[in-house]
Amino acid sequence: MEIIRNAGHDEVLALCGGQCACATCHVYVDEEYLGILPSMSEDENDLLDSSDHRQANSRLSCQIEFHAALTGLRLQIGPDE
Ligand code: FES
Repeated sequence: MEIIRNAGHDEVLALCGGQCACATCHVYVDEEYLGILPSMSEDENDLLDSSDHRQANSRLSCQIEFHAALTGLRLQIGPDE
């Protein structure tokens, strides 16, 4: 989430500041990267369930800790909740 925002994409609101409490950092991750993302917590899963826009590749970007294997990660920013 911070990487996206630091790149100037203001449409990622991230209202809770990365505390996994708002779902305004919703993204759709390119399918080829889903297998190397960290596991989804129960809280993240519950928040995504509250979205009308959840898809199989939905994640909350604030819950994805970046590491070298994610270099080149492609994603689409989700709609406003
Ligand atoms: S910034 Fe609020 S859940 Fe990600």
